[in-house]
Amino acid sequence: MMRKGIILAGGRGTRLYPITKVINKQLLHVYDKPMIYYPLSILMLANIREVLIISTPHDLPLYEELLGDGSKFGIKLSYQVQLSPRGLPEAFILAEEFLNGSPSALVLGDNIFFSMGLQPILEKASEDIHGMKVFAYPVYDPREYGVVEVSAEGKVRSIEEKPQHPKSNLALTGLYFCDNQASSLAKELTLSGRGELEIVDLMRIYLKQDNLSVHNFGRGAAWLDTGNPDSLLDAANFIATIERRQGFKIACLEEIAFNKNWITQKELERHADDQKNSSYGKYIYNLLMSCK
Ligand code: DAU
Repeated sequence: MMRKGIILAGGRGTRLYPITKVINKQLLHVYDKPMIYYPLSILMLANIREVLIISTPHDLPLYEELLGDGSKFGIKLSYQVQLSPRGLPEAFILAEEFLNGSPSALVLGDNIFFSMGLQPILEKASEDIHGMKVFAYPVYDPREYGVVEVSAEGKVRSIEEKPQHPKSNLALTGLYFCDNQASSLAKELTLSGRGELEIVDLMRIYLKQDNLSVHNFGRGAAWLDTGNPDSLLDAANFIATIERRQGFKIACLEEIAFNKNWITQKELERHADDQKNSSYGKYIYNLLMSCK
């Protein structure tokens, strides 16, 4: 069965108030495109073409307006409301009908990844439909994240959410590949002390089954945070620096779709026309020119 994708793009974004008082965080821009383009690009690079977007009742219609049915990116998008932020594993429960027994990949709407060779890593993770695969990244201060401790042989020793005294510097990124048990296992979880279902609890179930694997992106990659004004600005500056230096865009969804032959040259031309006044639209024009 084909793996399906889920983007969790709700939450209250209180650490960004007043910016996110009336608009959802993942609709904010990171340099030249909306934040949600970045996690959506990750799913597309993993060859996932059916994606469910989960957000608040207030913001979900805005995502629909922005992204439509997904056909402009050669994919199929569906939408699902989350009434209140009850924790990351709730995504698998809300998505149960959408998944309909398929394996899944959940990505948090505020996670940005950039790395050489990212596409083959994602493709490989997507093809292996057994167990749960999570991704770690070394950070200077891991206390704000899920933290994983891995033995020299690659065995997971411990997983903790936002520990005061982290056992390693490996943060767990917001990207989770799961087999078809995710929805039923998520339903067995109970609320934590902070009143949420915890993704680390789901990981622990897979760990008990000896079904959890961790890929460490290592120091040659970038995993960026967008949770507060400083990290949001840093992320925008990072994207701008790379894009201006190389002339390639990060997370241009039309480009990914075109390279995968999911949309035609004619369609690409239409999307360039629709956005012709922006640097994003001009970039798509240049792509067209280079294949003529
Ligand atoms: O970004 C990676 C981290 O994400 C992991 O290291 C942690 O293990 C994981 O728990 C999560 O931690 P955060 O503190 O960043 O999670 P936060 O509650 O901020 O939620 C992340 C995004 O997901 C945020 O943009 C809002 C959205 N969200 C969150 C929850 C809990 C929802 O849409 N619904 C929810 O119920």
